[in-house]
Amino acid sequence: MMNNLTQHQQSVPLEDREAKNGHSAAVLWFSGLSGSGKSTLAMAVQKVLFEAGFQVTVLDGDNVRHGLNAGLGFAESDRNENLRRVAEASKLIAEAGMIVLSSFISPLAKNRQLARKIVEPLNFFEIYVSVTLDTAEQRDPKGLYKKARAGEIKDFTGIDSPFEEPDHADLVIVNDSQSVQEGVQQIITFLKEKRIIS
Ligand code: ADX
Repeated sequence: MMNNLTQHQQSVPLEDREAKNGHSAAVLWFSGLSGSGKSTLAMAVQKVLFEAGFQVTVLDGDNVRHGLNAGLGFAESDRNENLRRVAEASKLIAEAGMIVLSSFISPLAKNRQLARKIVEPLNFFEIYVSVTLDTAEQRDPKGLYKKARAGEIKDFTGIDSPFEEPDHADLVIVNDSQSVQEGVQQIITFLKEKRIIS
C-alpha cells in the first residue's frame, strides 16, 4: 500500500449486519436538476422505510455542503471533489449496513460513474429524477434559476453549467407532474424487485 497504510478487516461482516437488520445495505444515488424533486423524494422514501423498521439515512447536497464539504463551490473540479467525497461517505454508511439515499445533482456522466465505482461491489442504484429544465425553472423553489438568469449566480446547472442526462440509470422517475407519493411507490417497488427490502 502507498503511504505506509494498511487496511483492517471488519470484525463484523456486512452479511451479519444485514441479517440483523432484516434488509440489504444499498446506496440509492438520486441525480437530477436542482428543483427536480430528488431531495423531497429521498426524504419521503426515508420516512416510509424508517417507519417500516429499516435502517436508512439521507445525504443531500444542500446539507453536506454546509459541513463535510463546506468550502467547495460549483466549478467542475469542486463538484467532482464534492461527489467523490459523498460517494465515499455513502459507501462507509452502506458498509455499516444501512440504506443510503444520496441526493446530489451529479451533473456529469463521469460523476455518476465514479460514484458507482466507489460504492460497488456494494449495491449501488442510480435513480434519475427527470424533469425538463422548464419544469425546474418554473418551480424554482429556492429562487436560484431566477438569480442564475440574472447573472447573479455563475455555473448554475442547466443554465451556464452542463447537465448530461443519465442514460444508464437503474430507475427513472419522471417527475414533472406526478405526486411525491407516486414516486415513493415506484422506488419502494424497485427496492422490492431488487431484493433490498421485502
Ligand atoms: S453537485 O453538482 O455537486 O452534485 P449538489 O447536489 O452538491 O451539486 O448541490 C446542489 C445544490 O446547491 C442545489 O440544489 C442548489 O440549492 C445549490 N446551488 C448553489 N449554487 C449552485 C450552482 N451554481 N449550480 C447548482 N446548484 C447550486
